[in-house]
This record gives sequence, C-alpha cells and structure tokens, in this order.
Amino acid sequence: MNKASPTSEPKLTLSDPDRQQKALDILSPLVLTKTQKERVKEVFIEEMKLGLAASPERKSSLLMENTFIPELVNGTESGEYMALDLGGTNFRVIYVQLKDGKIEEEIIDYYHVPEDKRLGPGTELFDFLAYCISDFVHKRNLNLTGRTYQLGFTFSFPMTQKSLNIGLLVSWTKSFNCSGVLGEDAVQMLTDAINRRGDLDITVSAILNDTTGTLVMGSYLDPRCGIGMILGTGCNGCYVEKVSRIEKWPGKHSEAEVIVDIEWGAFGDNGVLDFIRTKWDRAVDDQSLLVHSYTFEKYFAGKYLGDLYREVLLTLAKSGVFCEGNVGGGEGGSLTKHGSITTKDISAIESEHFHGGRDDVKKVLERLGLKPDEDDLSIAQHVAGVVSYRGVVLVCLLIGVLLDRMEREHCTIAIDGSLFQHHPRFRPLMDKLISELAPGRPFDLRLASDGSGLGSALTAAVADRLQKKS
Ligand code: BGC
Repeated sequence: MNKASPTSEPKLTLSDPDRQQKALDILSPLVLTKTQKERVKEVFIEEMKLGLAASPERKSSLLMENTFIPELVNGTESGEYMALDLGGTNFRVIYVQLKDGKIEEEIIDYYHVPEDKRLGPGTELFDFLAYCISDFVHKRNLNLTGRTYQLGFTFSFPMTQKSLNIGLLVSWTKSFNCSGVLGEDAVQMLTDAINRRGDLDITVSAILNDTTGTLVMGSYLDPRCGIGMILGTGCNGCYVEKVSRIEKWPGKHSEAEVIVDIEWGAFGDNGVLDFIRTKWDRAVDDQSLLVHSYTFEKYFAGKYLGDLYREVLLTLAKSGVFCEGNVGGGEGGSLTKHGSITTKDISAIESEHFHGGRDDVKKVLERLGLKPDEDDLSIAQHVAGVVSYRGVVLVCLLIGVLLDRMEREHCTIAIDGSLFQHHPRFRPLMDKLISELAPGRPFDLRLASDGSGLGSALTAAVADRLQKKS
C-alpha cells in the first residue's frame, strides 16, 4: 500500500489514467502556484501596513489590534489567579498558583457551552460563564473569604481594545452569534454577570485573545517567543511589534514593543484574496453560520476543513470521477449534507495514509452510504491531502512574512489548537515550509497546551504586579 509523506505534495495515482487526469484537472484550483503564493505574501504585507496606519487609504481586512499587554512575566509574580477561556464549544475555568513567576499549581475545568447559550441573548451567555466560575470555585473548594481574585479573560473573538481590561466585540465568529454584545465591552458584561450572582469576589483585570494568551504562555516557557498562534476551530496569529510602527496608536508610549493581534482569520474579507478563492470555498462560506466573513479562516480551520473536503468530493462525484457519480445517503448523511464529514475525519484519513492504511477512509465513505472502489479510496485520500496541504501553505506564507518583519535572531512560535495537535500534516509540514519561506530566520514551533487560558492567568498576575507597583 502506498504510504504518503506529510511533508510532500500529495500525489494521485489511479489505475485508470483518464480518470486520474480528470480528477487532477478538477482539483487544480486548490494547488497554489508560485505566483499565487508570492501574491498572498504581498497582499498580507500590504494589509498589515494598512491595518496599522493612522489614516489608511482603504480599510484593511486585518484588525491589527493593540493588546495593551504591558509586560511579560518577570519572575517576581506570586499569588493565586484565575482565568476564563471562551472561544469554542468548550469553555475553560482555570485557577493558577504562582510563586516567583513559576506556576506551582494549576486547575483547569472544562464546561460545555450549549447551543442556546452560543446563539441566544448575550446576557444569558455571560450569566452562564459566571455560573461556571461559581461552580468551579465551590467544587474546587477555593477559599473566597476575605480576598479578591484577579481574573484574566481570554475572549477569542475580534475585539477593539481600549485598554488591558476593556475589549469591545467587533464581530462574532466560529459558532457564536449572541445578540446584544456587538460593540459592547466583554469585561463589563462579565463583571455585571458576576455582580448579578453576588457570590463571587472577582475582578476581571485583563482581557485578551487566545493567540495573545498563547504568546504570553509561550514566552513563559521560552523567552525567545515572539509569535502566538491558534490552529484550531478558528485560526489567528499575534506577534511582537515595534510600537514605532503602530501609526494608529496615538500619543507617546514608554514601551518599545507591544503584542499585536492580527485577526488574520478575516484576511481577504475585502476581496483581496479572491484570486485563490475556489467555488468550494464559496460553498463553505455560504453554508457557515456567519456568511461573507472570516474568509481566510474558512480556507482550512478546524470548523471548516471537513466541509471543504466534502464539497470537493461532491464535485468529483457529480462529474462522474468519484464513486460512479453517487453522492451517498447513509446513516451518517451524504456528500450533500453540511457537517457530514468533520476535520477529525480528515486527520484520521491523513494519518492512516501516512502509515499506508485505508480502513478509516473507507469507514468515512461507507458511513455516508458510498461504496468506494480502490481508485475512489485513492481519490478520497488524495483530496484530504490537497485541502490540508493548501491550508498549511497559507499559514506558513503568513508566518514567513512575520519572521522577516521581526528580524529576530531566533523566534519561537507558540501554538495551541486541535488542528495543530491532531492533524498529522500540520506540524511536520510547517517545519519544512517555514524554513523554505523564511530562509535564515531560525525558529521553533512550540506546542503551548492550554496556553490561551494559562497565558491569561499569567497576564492577570502581571497586571496585579504592575498595579501594586504603581
Ligand atoms: C477569532 C480570533 C481567534 C481565532 C482562534 C477566530 O475566529 O476571530 O479572535 O483568535 O478564531 O480561536
């Protein structure tokens, strides 16, 4: 059996050469040319510049938001802190005990955020978050008497930040769409919900994005960390930028550098990436919760990769190249059913392909009521490789630009998220492609598990230290 390699471009070999050529022709828009890759880089550089400009000639699709993180952990922080991490269907409540800047104890509990809370009124969502904190505090026997806990709030959505503890929601993304929160300060809404309960003495002292939390955690693990990234349900990156380059930040500033949240999930929302957009990307967007937004994220992030894959297979089936034109219809849905194939399926298909197997791919297709022959299985494996490979290339193009921009002797890139952790192609291929795209820029990819939440608790500790000092 053919073993694929995670770092090589996917190759398709079928017993029928005509069918092979037809499939490759259909798939060709997903294979980025050298010119397209160069253009993605150029457009990203331009959009970053516009996003940082004081009065840009047109609106950038990149928010390039100042995070107001004043300093990183310096080894003197001690005490107990809490954090919340909200961004996906799993919400985390975290307790951390620090001694001399080191995490001595951490407790993380997971809560499922039900759909009615993700799509209902915002106050109900924040009441639910406050309820979870209370449940956590009581279950874990945290002593609340006579003390105020400082809490860092990881809120993984685009925000306009006015200070370290003011973040106005710009738009919902992923699987959230609560009413009454757009334009509001998430810290205030959480504080109000905590006060409504009356059983918690907690001050929300910092709000940050999950990428920022990951970068803060990354720099705790390795001081050379300069980029934070999430490769999960959604995708985004942040990096350490020179304050002198942030033209849109008025006034004089004592700090030389600050973390900028790029919000690259929205890259291309203004049409600048349309030259790589395929009909399958449009179909995925059309079926998503929040259409016509988060263009870049929808090219490959965990919430969307399964659907992209399904859309491509559907086209191949409809053109008679795949499964004799059948679109299925089994217990697990069909090729026409949104959500019938998940990113987890793709990780499994890719993983066994790298080991030379074909059981998982067969199972996924049979679940949809398809009866694949050997060539169908090869096609299904190949398409999983093609959509994943394009995703990795896109992410690496952006990272390459950042490494060049930062000009560091060495840059550690802290990453959290299910796609990075469980999709077997991402990490090895990223290692290879980033080296090729940014030659002479040494880097390390570092998994920062739960970094988004833990980084938030660390940020609350830094804020506390600075407040005590002042
Ligand atoms: C959000 C970002 C977040 C990313 C990863 C995107 O949908 O807009 O703020 O960092 O998902 O969770």
